[in-house]
Amino acid sequence: MAFSKPLLELLSDGHFYSGSQLGEQLGCSRTAVWKMIQALENAGVDIFHVRGKGYRLARAVELLSAERILDGMSERGRQSLSGLEVLFDVDSTNTYLIERPLGAAETGRACFAEVQRLGRGRRGRLWVSPFGGNLYLSLRWRFSRGGAELGGLSLAVGVALVRALRDEGVEGLSLKWPNDILLQGRKLAGVLLEISGETNGPCEVVIGVGLNVRATEFAQEAIDQPWSDLESSLGSRIARNVLAAQILTCLIGAARQYDIDGLDSFRDEWMAADAFSGREVVLQTPSAETAGVVQGVDENGALILSLKNGALKHFYSGEISLRATSGQLANV
Ligand code: BTN
Repeated sequence: MAFSKPLLELLSDGHFYSGSQLGEQLGCSRTAVWKMIQALENAGVDIFHVRGKGYRLARAVELLSAERILDGMSERGRQSLSGLEVLFDVDSTNTYLIERPLGAAETGRACFAEVQRLGRGRRGRLWVSPFGGNLYLSLRWRFSRGGAELGGLSLAVGVALVRALRDEGVEGLSLKWPNDILLQGRKLAGVLLEISGETNGPCEVVIGVGLNVRATEFAQEAIDQPWSDLESSLGSRIARNVLAAQILTCLIGAARQYDIDGLDSFRDEWMAADAFSGREVVLQTPSAETAGVVQGVDENGALILSLKNGALKHFYSGEISLRATSGQLANV
């Protein structure tokens, strides 16, 4: 059964609604309402049922609104976008924008979703994307630089997210190469960049960001690494539309800055936020594991490790984890 947007819109205020109230508002029977509620629960939405009272969401959710996001953006950011859509559910916001190339007169377009059925993470992983208050967004942006010069863009995006979150008063943020955003050392957000275009000519990039705003029980069970969410860490509710506007404004600002000045203009900021700077790590690639001490990133965004023999080695891909003193890998 399709995900019921009208039903969730009704329930989003967190109040109780009886089956017959919902049926009346939605123009369907109580049995149909019950089936829709079941479909939502199967999709991971936390719903309470109380006999005699009806149904309510475990917690109220501030639904995203394109108008409110645009209102909260900087004038410049708003003007650079030819479109901003809020989709209710979609396979993946990245895929959605990949399938919609920019027209000749467009520089950027963005979309958000409340739910992703097939949210995609780096390295072919699934990005668990239930309904319930996280942010899933993509920005499609035209760069005048070619693909060969966009190697450091993912680091710039990490910096943009840290800027946006700090502007909203979030402390305890750091970056894990290439672009994971950590809060108190645990993953808060991930970035997936998908590039199309020429090596030397103009390129279009879809910049996808998944940010944990609020943990749902479903997500807690489904995510297989240490992670954090903003509301649990801050102990307060997040105004999602305000945060969405701030993130988009910073992403657009960073995309412009990168196109003009390249990674150089972000490198110091990236390294100042590096969670692993000077620490012993293991970098894993499909073919090898390399241990070394993190010495920052080079002008192309590659990770620099100093190896046991004193040599400096630059890595363009791979996944780092802290090397625990026992020789075991810490799970960060
Ligand atoms: C990672 O593995 O760390 C990257 C996760 C990126 C997830 C976001 S959610 C919005 C956008 N749409 C997707 O399918 N993926 C990205």
